Amino acid sequence: MILITGATGTSGVPIVKALLSRAERVRVLVRDVAKAATVLGDEVEITHGDLTDPQSIEAAMEDVDRALLNSPAAPDLVDLQSAFIDAAKRAGVKHVAKFSVAGADPKSNRTFAKMHGEVEDKLRASGLAWTMLRPTFFMQNFFAMAGMIRAGTIYQPAGEGRAPYVDVRDIAAVAAATLSEPGHEGKAYEITGPQSLTYHDIAQMFTNLTDHHVSYQNVTFEDAKKAMTQMGISEWLANGINELSQGLQEGIFTNVTKTVRDVGKKEPITLVQFIQENIEVFR
Ligand SMILES: NC(=O)c1ccc[n+]([C@@H]2O[C@H](COP(=O)([O-])OP(=O)(O)OC[C@H]3O[C@@H](n4cnc5c(N)ncnc54)[C@H](OP(=O)(O)O)[C@@H]3O)[C@@H](O)[C@H]2O)c1
Repeated sequence: MILITGATGTSGVPIVKALLSRAERVRVLVRDVAKAATVLGDEVEITHGDLTDPQSIEAAMEDVDRALLNSPAAPDLVDLQSAFIDAAKRAGVKHVAKFSVAGADPKSNRTFAKMHGEVEDKLRASGLAWTMLRPTFFMQNFFAMAGMIRAGTIYQPAGEGRAPYVDVRDIAAVAAATLSEPGHEGKAYEITGPQSLTYHDIAQMFTNLTDHHVSYQNVTFEDAKKAMTQMGISEWLANGINELSQGLQEGIFTNVTKTVRDVGKKEPITLVQFIQENIEVFR
């Protein structure tokens, strides 16, 4: 039995589906059972719980031998994920795949990379078998920019920075392989899409594929933060996202890896494919 947390989220849903398609038995720990049933269907075992409630985690771990640890970027991520690792150890779980982030490092000056890096250290020290899944920026983040794209201008403080955006279905293919095949213990996989792109490249793709002109406009970090907080994003999250844009400007996310092909055993989805599939959202 494989236990999955964060199962109803952007990355969690395709991971559950990828494991079910491999005929694995999957249990999800969720806060909202009805929502989980709607988005995940009836092939999955749904357990009510909360990562802030250690007793619910322990109960969900009965008969579990493998787990996928995933939770949102939030100030309590290290505490919640550390408690999960302690519970997994007590419950006799054998292998934990941690959903992490590109460049995870406890010494990073970027908040998300630092938090995930601290949890990775904790998992490595736990004695459990582990696999680190370190995806770069999701293609699905463009859904949050759909309004800007439809209006014709992508505003970001990323300069000429490049990143190899990855579709969450490709991350899911890698995650499912690591949990259902032998040989992935002790590995840290940097997971990227197939092409490293600037926002100018991306705007050009949207122009080519929608029926309207889309351009990219670099903005200051202050303006980006103001826009994000006006959209309801917390100041903490907005600062973390700006740190990623700073990283884009510094050119630290440019590398394309072969993990989707080598581990996920599939051709990585291109950004053009992603836009084409979702064209009505962006037009
Ligand atoms: N976005 C990117 O480009 C990117 C890139 C690399 C790595 N990441 C990492 O990816 C991870 C997941 O991101 P995501 O976008 O897939 O997340 P998401 O869509 O926000 O989903 C979060 C999931 O966690 C669940 N959850 C939240 N709080 C919980 C709690 N206290 N107990 C149990 N479940 C809880 C949510 O359940 P409910 O349905 O109950 O809300 C939901 O299923 C983050 O750690 C992030 O750092 C993101």
